[in-house]
Amino acid sequence: MTWKTLHDLHAATKDRHILSLFEDPARAEAFSARFGDMLFDFSKTNIDAQTLEALVSLAREAGVEERRTAMFTGEKINETEGRAVLHTALRNLDERPIFVDGENVMPKVMETLERMGHFAEAVRSGQFKGQGGAITDVVNIGIGGSDLGPVMGTLALAPYHDGPRLHYVSNVDGAHIADVLKGLNPETTLVLVASKTFTTIETMTNADTAKAWMGKVVKDPAAQFAALSSNLEKTGAYGIDPERVFGFEDWVGGRYSMWGPIGLPLMIAIGAENFRAFLAGGLAMDKHFCEAPLQENLPVLLALVGIWHNQICGHATRAVLPYEQRLLRLPAYLQQLEMESNGKRVSMDGKDLERNSGPVVWGEPGTNGQHAFYQLIHQGTRVIPCEFMVGAEGHEPELAHQHRLLVANCLAQSEALLRGRSLEEATEIMAKKGLEGEELERQARHRVFPGNRPSTTLVYPKLTPEVFGQIIALYEHRVFVEGVILGINSFDQWGVELGKELALALEPVVTGESDGAGKDGSTLGLVRHIRALAG
Ligand code: F6P
Repeated sequence: MTWKTLHDLHAATKDRHILSLFEDPARAEAFSARFGDMLFDFSKTNIDAQTLEALVSLAREAGVEERRTAMFTGEKINETEGRAVLHTALRNLDERPIFVDGENVMPKVMETLERMGHFAEAVRSGQFKGQGGAITDVVNIGIGGSDLGPVMGTLALAPYHDGPRLHYVSNVDGAHIADVLKGLNPETTLVLVASKTFTTIETMTNADTAKAWMGKVVKDPAAQFAALSSNLEKTGAYGIDPERVFGFEDWVGGRYSMWGPIGLPLMIAIGAENFRAFLAGGLAMDKHFCEAPLQENLPVLLALVGIWHNQICGHATRAVLPYEQRLLRLPAYLQQLEMESNGKRVSMDGKDLERNSGPVVWGEPGTNGQHAFYQLIHQGTRVIPCEFMVGAEGHEPELAHQHRLLVANCLAQSEALLRGRSLEEATEIMAKKGLEGEELERQARHRVFPGNRPSTTLVYPKLTPEVFGQIIALYEHRVFVEGVILGINSFDQWGVELGKELALALEPVVTGESDGAGKDGSTLGLVRHIRALAG
């Protein structure tokens, strides 16, 4: 019923210019929400009071509050895998008891956090040594959720990076590991094998390559390896001393795992204390998500704006545009978080989804994106809702003038999307340049910006570990709320399986051991061509 109300509201308001909503002087304040010093402004969208009310009702009717409680209390809401969803336990520094199958999971979570802290500090201080002395370089081998979070976090928190150099290898393309290992000293390198399952082919192949590289020089390479995984049997079989194995439970999903052992590389980079501040930020957002009324709740509002734009207005993609160079990899991280979580065509009950699944998420930091794809955002034929983010302050006081320029650019883009430039304005500009007649008309038309394009802006104080934790938890919960509203299980990822199976079956065809009988003509033709070129 509420879906219908929302579609009706959209039909009734879709031709209204967003700018007209600002005739209400209180709009910016009314269509913004705060969490501490963080401000989420969604006033530059076509959402009005009636729409917001309907969206909040939608969340309530979908059972967001009940599902939220179920998640935080360890119910097995990942029904297709029969698992609880408790990445929030990893940042539960208050140690509020959380039970799974009758057992409080917190003592083990805290014990692992403590062990991670000791190990990280031993590596950072030089107390943990490689064959050649103190560790100078750490190579994290993992992919997807075992890579994207720590990679993004290490870049994001670069001003706090005072530990050894960090390198990340994810792609099975040998070029990746070859480029990373080139120039490293195996005697002072620590390798972290990060894999929840410890079976992912890319990661295990790269781990073998790293072991062989190290083994050429280091007598006992396994002594310079640590494992971050929930499969302790496999880490043992790989020969890694249990002292350097940091385990977690199956209730931590890969793309939600950077708060625990998968975050160890980040912890080594920034230190245990800063890592705790990151966890504290996540915990603070958890509390806000659990306690704030839906209409003031940041993750809920982000989700509702997302549902409005994608499922109601029909905008299939959303651009994430951090005006923060250090959030360079946030869009890639969010692609996995959002698209692996909510890219499903079947709802929780096994029926076809009644509406579109989650959006295509993409983006790049500003101002770089402005000189690349913003053209299409401003003047293309499709509407792309934009999510701007910017810190009030940078980490370089001596470059404050550059930061002000960055902020001005961020705000200018959302203003331009809102206002646009009319044909009259464009004509006036071109007439001043001396054009007239048909040529004036033609040139002016190219310079028209339709405007009326929706965007939101998230302002945070400064990208400290704590604020970074708040931002990541904010997006996690946004994905959760969208998933609940769509009736999706946001915590499985069956869609990645088929390709994995087919790759295994194709390997002998590529090597020539199998003739690939039964494969389609295109695939066989491509293999033939590659084999002919590769010799
Ligand atoms: O691509 C699927 C996936 O299972 C992701 O969900 C996960 O983050 C990634 O592979 C890596 O998995 P693992 O940590 O088990 O190596």
